[in-house]
Amino acid sequence: MKKLFAAFSVFVIAGCNAKGNNTNIEVIQNMMDQVTIKSQDWDPKEGDKVQMRTPPPGTVPRGFTPYKYATDPAAAWRQQNPLAGNSSEEVLDLGRKQYGIYCAVCHGDKGDSIAPVVEKMLVKPRNLIMADAKAYSDGRIYHAITAGIGLMGAYAGQIPDEKARWAIVNYVRTLQR
Ligand code: HEC
Repeated sequence: MKKLFAAFSVFVIAGCNAKGNNTNIEVIQNMMDQVTIKSQDWDPKEGDKVQMRTPPPGTVPRGFTPYKYATDPAAAWRQQNPLAGNSSEEVLDLGRKQYGIYCAVCHGDKGDSIAPVVEKMLVKPRNLIMADAKAYSDGRIYHAITAGIGLMGAYAGQIPDEKARWAIVNYVRTLQR
């Protein structure tokens, strides 16, 4: 037991280092010094660059489709809804859930923009069930969700799945009925 304690003490003491900024004495080193560079670390060859790079311009992550209409609302409003006329339970459930999470807080559970935060807002959220909104194209509602409009922020970050965004559009249509 004493031997074990002595051996343990050596490790503990070896781990300490009185001189502030020096690294600890490493007893078993083979796992600590590696040729790979940690993602947040400096690249020793490039000095001023961190290992984690920004992607080259013009590249997109796999499985990600950039939104083509961010700066072209007119074209965005003409987009076809891939779920047009689909009022299946699956789609409406998805839309209802996402609407409840992301939209109802401002536009109200019924789409009438009656919600607790609305009275504090200077620019009121659009009433989504009035006649004007009924005349919006599906693409216009989708564009508002994806790119935002005026004081309303974009929700593409929170709702990255395009299908879920179109499902919200379909759900808004059911509220309008
Ligand atoms: C933080 C509050 C807020 C949230 C959350 C919000 N909106 Fe809005 N929305 C607004 C405001 C405010 C406007 C009016 C913007 C303006 O006129 O400047 C608006 C406008 C709209 C419009 C009108 C777009 C147009 O082209 O005129 C639609 C459609 C819409 N919102 C749908 C949604 C949907 C769907 C969601 C959920 C994904 C959502 N909003 C979430 C505040 C919000």
